[in-house]
Amino acid sequence: MFPEYLSEVKTLVKDKIAKSIGSTNTIEKAMAYSALADSKMIRAGLVFASAETNKFIAKSSIITLASAVELMHTYSLIHDDLPCMDDDDLRRNQPSSHIKFGEANAVLAGDALQALAYEIIVDDIELSSDNKVKALKLLSEACGKNGMVHGQYLDIENENSENINQDKLDEIHNLKTGKLIECSVMLGQIANNLNDDCFKKLKNFSSKIGLAFQVTDDILDATQTAEILGKTQNSDLKNNKLTYISFLGLDGANERALKLTESGLQSLNTSNIINKEKLIELAEFLLHRNN
Ligand code: IPE
Ligand code: IPE
Ligand code: MG
Ligand code: MG
Ligand code: MG
Repeated sequence: MFPEYLSEVKTLVKDKIAKSIGSTNTIEKAMAYSALADSKMIRAGLVFASAETNKFIAKSSIITLASAVELMHTYSLIHDDLPCMDDDDLRRNQPSSHIKFGEANAVLAGDALQALAYEIIVDDIELSSDNKVKALKLLSEACGKNGMVHGQYLDIENENSENINQDKLDEIHNLKTGKLIECSVMLGQIANNLNDDCFKKLKNFSSKIGLAFQVTDDILDATQTAEILGKTQNSDLKNNKLTYISFLGLDGANERALKLTESGLQSLNTSNIINKEKLIELAEFLLHRNN
């Protein structure tokens, strides 16, 4: 069952993250407060599930890469909640970082989490230098000015916008969320030697489920309680965001998430990738999650 798999992943990743951060000063405490809070660790789960198909990576390096992605993701959430961004007070079932530690410390904790994500990859003892560079490249491309940051910029820039079409909406969501999900799957392939066909199909799978993840996030924002979400309900409505709900309606958004997941799974299923069961289970789990 997938939830048990995810809970084993969480234990390993939380242990690595706790050791990597420490708790000696306010910024370390703020980093740990958000990174070790109650979260799904989907991206870490994706690194692990993808690495099930890869015989050439050490368990300790899978933990490193999974932790790096979660540190990066946590940084993005701390900044996403800031008053100048989505202005949300609740995250992971507790007050957001800026509510607990103040705005300046929240910004700094996010900055430091981002740097630490790169640092733990550099410090990994099993990966070759070449593979570390590949991992750093994947992560920096997914998160930087042509990836998540650009998506967050477009997301804010298009608040209150009436000028929307499917391509624009897909672009924003692919960039702000899809890229890091895709990156998580591809990090699980570090050191592997997939042929071109398998590589392309895995990449297609990861980008489809990455977009589906944000479609579902939009649906949950509009349909779940803050208690179940562990974060503010109706944050998108409050900020007048462009979402799949505002564009397609609830039924249309549900249909889109299903179609994207089916298309991603079809791509994976038609590939010769070995041991892909965990990836398949994860994609189905993501579609049916309630938070
Ligand atoms: C929330 O991500 C932000 C998005 C990119 C949609 P998650 O739903 O994975 O949040 P956590 O990590 O479980 O808190
Ligand atoms: C967040 O998207 C994407 C990133 C943090 C990069 P949202 O703003 O929809 O995420 P939530 O709903 O606050 O978790
Ligand atoms: Mg946001
Ligand atoms: Mg938000
Ligand atoms: Mg959201």
